[in-house]
Amino acid sequence: RQRVLSGIQPTADSFHFGNYLGALRQWVNLQDEHEPFYMVVDQHAITVEQDPKVLRERTYRSAAQLVAMGVDPERSAIFVQSHVPAHAQLAWVLNCITAFGEARRMTQFKDKSAKGGEGAASVGLFTYPILQAADILLYRPAYVPVGEDQRQHLELTRDLAHRFNTRYKKTFRLPEPYILKETAKIYDLQNPTAKMSKSASSPAGIIDLLDDPKVSAKKIRSAVTDSDAVVAFDPVAKPGVSNLLSIFAALTGRPAEEIAGDYAGRGYGDLKGDLADVVVAFVTPLRDRALALLEDRSALDEVLASGAERARAVADRTLADVYDRVGFVRPL
Ligand code: TYM
Repeated sequence: RQRVLSGIQPTADSFHFGNYLGALRQWVNLQDEHEPFYMVVDQHAITVEQDPKVLRERTYRSAAQLVAMGVDPERSAIFVQSHVPAHAQLAWVLNCITAFGEARRMTQFKDKSAKGGEGAASVGLFTYPILQAADILLYRPAYVPVGEDQRQHLELTRDLAHRFNTRYKKTFRLPEPYILKETAKIYDLQNPTAKMSKSASSPAGIIDLLDDPKVSAKKIRSAVTDSDAVVAFDPVAKPGVSNLLSIFAALTGRPAEEIAGDYAGRGYGDLKGDLADVVVAFVTPLRDRALALLEDRSALDEVLASGAERARAVADRTLADVYDRVGFVRPL
């Protein structure tokens, strides 16, 4: 059984459909044949300012949603990044083999620091991808299930692993990104050429897993499409309709083109109405389970404690190898 690892930030009250279809669904599906490590990355979250109470609540909400969608705490180690100190410890070592210019090329830093200006962004935001590399390399995973927007971070991770391995001694496995083409990038319903994102300008473009299902249905019915009123899967010419078809396809397991065929001679209203029903049927039980899990914090604490224990057992071993190879004296 090969290891897989991934992470998600607790920076919203709910995960959205981009997170779910782009990454989290694969977290669930990979459990059967792999040994998974899945974490809520609270240390990444504080690279931008967070309200402490809200951060703590969102961390619990994240864990509850993972369990509710089918990440099984028996088969998968579900944990919080800050419960495993080796992440920050390895990040320091990797900071020291990353070139400043190399870190500067990361496009997410450019995007996220664009608003306030680079001078106001935290140094933590700048070194964010290096902490992510540490998250991954500690577990020597074969695959990292993520959406398309993480590809550049995975490339940096592989570069750093290779550099460490050649400079010192083979220590890290070079991980492969696990990105499913059909759902690699889910788009904003109101602005279908931008990715669905928690930092979007309007909540109308985002479907949250924990939203009232009636609200989600309404968002789908108000999704931006185009004016030629022909249902066809063509992401370049018809980004809005194609995004709806991609979501439909992912939730039903049918190809998007085939679904488009069902609507020959019918309008966008029919497609949206049917997709709204599919989405409501999907989110209603998931949301109920997540909200029920949130009623028992000590049960969630137990899940996270057992996940962290399994994670530390693996991570501490890798960190010990790293410390040894860079020449740190072993403490008595
Ligand atoms: P985050 O928290 O922004 O997103 C979590 C996952 O959701 C995917 N995703 C999308 N996929 C398709 N379409 C979208 N519109 C969409 N929006 C988000 C992301 O690609 C991601 O897989 N840096 C990471 C967190 C992280 C991590 C890690 C991931 C920290 N350490 C180690 C993997 C391994 C992030 O900010 O994801």
